[in-house]
Parts: sequence; structure tokens; C-alpha cells
Amino acid sequence: MKRLPSTLGPYRLTRLVGSGGMADVYLATHETIGGFERLVCLKCVREDYIGDAEIEQALVDEARVTSYIDHPNVTQIYELGRVGEDTFIAMEFVAGTNAAELLKVSLESGFNLPVDVVLYIAAEAARGLDAAHRETNLKGEPLNLVHRDISPQNILISFDGAVKVSDFGIAKSRLRHAHTTAGIVKGKYRYLSPEQARGETLDARSDVFALGIVLFELLTGTPFLRAEEPEALVREAQSPRTPRVHRTRDSVPKEVNGILQRSLKRKAGKRYPSAQALSDALSEALLRYFPDFEPARVAEIMRFFFPEHWALVLESREPTTLATSRYIADFSSSHDVELTAVATGDARPGMGRALLLGAGLCVLAATLLWGLRKILSET
Ligand SMILES: Nc1ncnc2c1ncn2[C@@H]1O[C@H](COP(=O)(O)OP(=O)(O)O)[C@@H](O)[C@H]1O
Ligand SMILES: [Mg+2]
Repeated sequence: MKRLPSTLGPYRLTRLVGSGGMADVYLATHETIGGFERLVCLKCVREDYIGDAEIEQALVDEARVTSYIDHPNVTQIYELGRVGEDTFIAMEFVAGTNAAELLKVSLESGFNLPVDVVLYIAAEAARGLDAAHRETNLKGEPLNLVHRDISPQNILISFDGAVKVSDFGIAKSRLRHAHTTAGIVKGKYRYLSPEQARGETLDARSDVFALGIVLFELLTGTPFLRAEEPEALVREAQSPRTPRVHRTRDSVPKEVNGILQRSLKRKAGKRYPSAQALSDALSEALLRYFPDFEPARVAEIMRFFFPEHWALVLESREPTTLATSRYIADFSSSHDVELTAVATGDARPGMGRALLLGAGLCVLAATLLWGLRKILSET
């Protein structure tokens, strides 16, 4: 990967933290005066797309759309930058992972994600989505924004338990200049609403449907659409099945299955009318069936499943530049190491130290396991 290590204006790129259809996302430090620095994320057009005017315009549009949204459940954008031929978005670094990765790691550890944690994540994401749907321009005119790409990969979860909707890369609004983005799959096939699969005009209820699929998958650990190939997936997405989650996972209250069924109605008019209505339904169910739930549980689960990464984040919060540098040098969640190695073809940097640290933390985790089993087990 040619980009690392390098600088883009005032930003020093240090790690690849994620990759998607059109962009690579890097961890970077932003240095200002007096040695003050903070961690940010830079979303850059992927190298193979540099110079592709349409994709660069998509990034500009994403920045334009997202800059209007100021909500704790939406990843915040700092600036749209251009240095040489690189166009990039500088944004808040969400120290944590995305919901797809959280699900994967929990399944690999032999656990389903706890139902209450899933309800909370979905309710928070729906709140962020609703803020986006309701956003207006400075004159107060609605932007009519539809995210169109709601998927577990685009829901970020931090070690503090914050949940943020990100990646408005193919969001459509009246602000958008790029109407077609050739080469990019518009909406991942597994998260298409029926109207999206039919190529019809979309509104906020299409995102409600996609979030319903995310909810289904986080609860069951299985794909909602069962087809494999893109064409078959699109066909299936046009007339999807009715979910019956409470039959396969009996700790899911029947009422939650009802929420899923309403979110996943084929006809948009029969779904929740807004993402906020979905969020309210999820929050009510959370309160009714899990009255002891506290948002701190999400942080607890995150720290449990990503102990090495969490230890490094903790260290980076020490008020010393040294600690921050160490975090940058060692930052290595499992998927990050893989992505970095694939992208660079390098040996896995920092693995030895990460393994040592991991071993220590495993001992600690084992002693906590008994208590945590109570939290994680199906009740
Ligand atoms: N602000 C951020 N903080 C931390 N990780 C991020 C951030 N933005 C994106 N990522 C990671 O990078 C991945 C790809 O970013 P995304 O914006 O979804 O790119 P694309 O538009 O190419 O899909 C995400 O799934 C997530 O894991
Ligand atoms: Mg994405």
C-alpha cells in the first residue's frame, strides 16, 4: 500500500482501519500547535479509483450530506480535504469496531450477542438514522436523505458503548451531485429493501427495512436473505420472507419478533413510518423485558470481545504523546491486522507484543468469565 506511512496536509496516516467499496479508512494523527495532536479517521478514495471523477464526487457528496447532521448516533465529519490528487474526509475516530465485526467475534467465541445489547444497538442506530432522515438545509428545507447502505459494516460501536451510523457514501438527497456511481454496488445486496431491489424511488422507510435486516442478523447470527449470488439475492430481496426469530432463539421475546416483522414488511406503508418509531418500539421492548439494562453493558461487551484493542485504547488515553504513539504503533484488532497484512503484504507488525498482551488479558478475562457468563448467557 503506497499510502503508508505518509502525510496528507496536517494529517499523518498510520494504520488502515477499514476498507469498503470506494474508500480506505485510515487512522491518522492531526498535529497542530504546541505538539497537540488528536486521532482522527481519514476516508480516502481507494487508490485504484484515484482520478475517477464520479467516485471523488461521491466522497464530496458524502461530506456535504453528513456535514449537516449533528447527532451523537452519526459519525461526525470534520472536513473535506484535498492534497495533490487525494480527496479525503477527515472525521471522528470511533475507537471500537463495526457491528459486523462484533457479531463475527462473538459467534466465533461461541456466543450469540445478548438480546438486550442488540436491541440497544439497533435503537441507537435508528435514532441516528432518524436524525439523518429529518435533516434540513440552512433554510430549513428537508434534504429528504436516504442512507441506502445500512448494513452491520456501517454501524460503528465504540469501547464506550456509543453506536454511530456511518458511511453516507451512497446516500441520496437533494444535495447530491453524483446520481450514478458506476463500479460501486449501490447498497449491499444482503440489505436491500424490496423497493430498492426493484429499482424504485426510496424514502426513509427503505432504511427502516435495512435496519430490520441488521436487527435480524445480530439476533440470529444468520443471514436474512438466504441466496448466495447477487442476482438471486436481488430476486429474493424483492419478496422477502417473514421472520420468526423467537422460534429459533427462545430468549428473543415474541414482541421483538413483532418489531422485526413490522420493520420487514414488503410494503413500505405497513412498516414503521419512521426510524424514530422503530427506535421507540425497540427502546420500549428493552425497558419491558430487560429492565436492568444499562448502556454500560455495550461497553462491557466490546471490551470483553476485543481485549487487546481495548487495552491499547486505554493506554492512548494517558495524557502523554508517548502513549498515543504506542497506540498507533500497536493498534491491532484482529481484522485490522488482517487488513493491514493483506493490503501491505508485510509481516504483521506489533503481533508479538499484541500476543503477549493478549495472553495476559486472557488470564484476566478467564477470571471474569464466570461473572460475564451470567451477562452473556441466554436467559
Ligand atoms: N470514523 C471511523 N472510525 C473508526 N472506523 C471507521 C470509521 N469510518 C469507517 N471505519 C471503518 O472502515 C470501514 C469502511 O468505512 P466506510 O466509510 O464504510 O467505507 P466505504 O464507503 O468504502 O464502505 C467501516 O466498516 C469501519 O469498520
Ligand atoms: Mg461502508
